[in-house]
Amino acid sequence: MADLYAVIGNPISHTKSPLIHGAFAAASDQDMMYEALLGEPGQFAATVDAFRRAGGCGMNVTAPFKLDAHAYATQRSEQARLAGAVKALKFEGDAVLAENFDGIGLVRDITVNLASPIAGRHVLVLGAGGAVRGMLLPFLQEKPGRLVVANRTVEKAQKLAETFSAYGPVEAVGYGDLAGQQFDIVINATSASLFGELPSVPAEVFIPGCLAYELVYGKGMTPFLTHAKASRAGFLADGVGMLVEQAAEAFHWWRGVRPDTKPMIAQLT
Ligand code: ATR
Repeated sequence: MADLYAVIGNPISHTKSPLIHGAFAAASDQDMMYEALLGEPGQFAATVDAFRRAGGCGMNVTAPFKLDAHAYATQRSEQARLAGAVKALKFEGDAVLAENFDGIGLVRDITVNLASPIAGRHVLVLGAGGAVRGMLLPFLQEKPGRLVVANRTVEKAQKLAETFSAYGPVEAVGYGDLAGQQFDIVINATSASLFGELPSVPAEVFIPGCLAYELVYGKGMTPFLTHAKASRAGFLADGVGMLVEQAAEAFHWWRGVRPDTKPMIAQLT
């Protein structure tokens, strides 16, 4: 029987995970099945228990179950703990291992696919919500020259900087403090693009030729990317590469095989 994997969420019909993992499995000759599972609120543990009894080996977790997954896990990686959200589970007997690969997926997309090193560079992250919490440890591990988190509500950025201070220096600022500063990589990790809004980031933060990265994907030229292009950013990217790379990390964790991500990124772009 093929090994069983799934993504659980509610709603779940929009998920691209079965497409991505199905393609990874076919390309790397893995005997596995990957399905989308609609979870009912309050039923997370019962649903996952039943999935494991049916032979489930691992899962991706999406909204609204990231905290349920955190509670369900018996062992959480440092990254999952710091991110405050569990995005992937692996079942080994009675043990439930928990991971969060979003940050490493983003780092790999930037450093490998986009060939833009983070080490020694000046990096600006816009936003201080869950998405940023998930990316700071993998970014600090790359040893950027500067890592600045700017947020509309500056206290939230300050809190994050404090939380991560044991892992490396993170500067917390408001958008108004960015005047006159310049960055090699600017990442929009706010949810502003989902509302067609632009975080009030000054045009001069984009060093000519820099990388501007929009975390959301499939929204085309968002206000942020339009602003970055007009401000002479050299490279524009959205989060599709991050989506595929975090899936590849989970696949590798489950199967011990690293799939080639390029064909899937090309297919989804
Ligand atoms: P996620 O989990 O996707 O990070 P979140 O935790 O709700 O979502 O955080 C949303 C982030 O987008 C926050 O940093 C928010 O700023 P505030 O903390 O000041 O609310 C930011 N955000 C949302 N809309 C924005 C806008 N129009 N301009 C600037 N920042 C915005």
